[in-house]
Amino acid sequence: MSLFRKKPLAVLLKEVSSSENGFKRTLSAGALVSLGIGAIIGAGLFVRTAAAAAQNAGPSVTIGFIVAALGCALAGLCYAELSSSIPVSGSAYTFTYATMGEMLAWVIGWDLILEYAVGAATVGIAWSEYLNNLLVEVLHLSPVPYEWCHSPFQVSKEGIRGIINLPALFIVTVISLLLMRGIKESAFFNNIIVIIKVSIVLLVIFLGWSFISEANHTPYIPEATTYIDHQGVSYNFGGILGILGAAGTVFFAFIGFDAVSTAAQETKNPAKAMPIGIIGSLLICTLLYVLFSHVLTGLVPVEFFRDPDKGGEASVVAAIQEAMPTYGWLSKSITIAILAGFSSVILVLLMGQSRVFYSMSKDGLLPKAFSDLHPKFQTPVKGNAIILILVALFAAFVPGDVVGHMTSIGTLFAFMLVCGAVIILRKREPDLERKFKTPLVPFIPILGILTCGAMIFGLGKENWIRLFIWLILGFIVYFGYSIRHSKLNKKRGA
Ligand code: ALA
Repeated sequence: MSLFRKKPLAVLLKEVSSSENGFKRTLSAGALVSLGIGAIIGAGLFVRTAAAAAQNAGPSVTIGFIVAALGCALAGLCYAELSSSIPVSGSAYTFTYATMGEMLAWVIGWDLILEYAVGAATVGIAWSEYLNNLLVEVLHLSPVPYEWCHSPFQVSKEGIRGIINLPALFIVTVISLLLMRGIKESAFFNNIIVIIKVSIVLLVIFLGWSFISEANHTPYIPEATTYIDHQGVSYNFGGILGILGAAGTVFFAFIGFDAVSTAAQETKNPAKAMPIGIIGSLLICTLLYVLFSHVLTGLVPVEFFRDPDKGGEASVVAAIQEAMPTYGWLSKSITIAILAGFSSVILVLLMGQSRVFYSMSKDGLLPKAFSDLHPKFQTPVKGNAIILILVALFAAFVPGDVVGHMTSIGTLFAFMLVCGAVIILRKREPDLERKFKTPLVPFIPILGILTCGAMIFGLGKENWIRLFIWLILGFIVYFGYSIRHSKLNKKRGA
């Protein structure tokens, strides 16, 4: 029984060609960029940016975005090589199974739960913040009381403790049910959401620019200190550590660009379209993010985002209301657009999660329930239901900061393994046809590993411990179940 047994590439590629009938190659490079942006812009920009400014870096959150983008671009080039040479759905998990062996593939698959399932919970919690805004500012109703829209680990300034986050629970449940019924990200719907999201970002940049106050941007990189929030949690604020912490936090805003790589089987000419899709959506988002966060931190002082009663929640709308009071229509339309935009991000993340679990279950590493298709809807209904329970628990009972950081750290770790996979595959399978080659190997993958590693470092000890505990849980499941049920194990009779 070998922990490093690999799924032979030939088997993998045969699986692709036999399943090719099921997928039509319809997506062009432009469609991939749109798919990427649809999955990318969400809670990371509209919620986590203000958190990173408040807790880590002040205005220099913009530099954090550049560091995060650099890590993503380097990992993205590695993703592009893998997805153009192994054009299989299933993302990093599948690549790793073919290159680095079963145990590491398991680690990645387990880790991707943080990216997709916990990521969906994070966006659900962000949705809950903006829902209150909709109720109060747009519909002129009462907000959901604090205890019913916060986790038990959160306490308001007035001393009210949260019980359960019902709106977050609601949205992840509704979207999971849609997914079980077999809803797909239709290209048309996705394009509309992309247009709405990009328009809001551009509007905030253009209209907000003249409201930037120099005082809020001075100093641009705050001096290194420790910031302690009203619940007693402390953060490294300012200086290089602050920027790295901010980069790790806003890294969340880029999550989803690798979703492009999971569409390899549906892409026309993946060799060309994949790198354009991955790097193109990254470039556009980075530019938008840096300009947007520059404006956001210029509108109000950092203290505004630290105050739970002011910009601590639904931060973008709160900042616009504070600094641009004559733009009521802007904050109202942003609230509605953000709620719609977040829903589409949750959909893409949950779909990613169900695809990864589906592949892992087909390989025998997870129970068959995750790949059993419902006779009518043709979706893995049982698997989706189990995923829903997991996501719902996180969304209802864990604070947004914690799930956001867990998502970032888990994904960063997966990216490091993807970079490593490129170096290893070049050595082990030198003759494999690579339609897209990562430039300057091993320099680019190594730089990718270092940049993602630096962001993990910036996220701090508590998050390292959380990742460590998560991986230990993963090993318990692997050695308790998966290693014995693996299809490769059965084939070899080992
Ligand atoms: N990048 C996605 C977001 O920011 C996950 O919501």
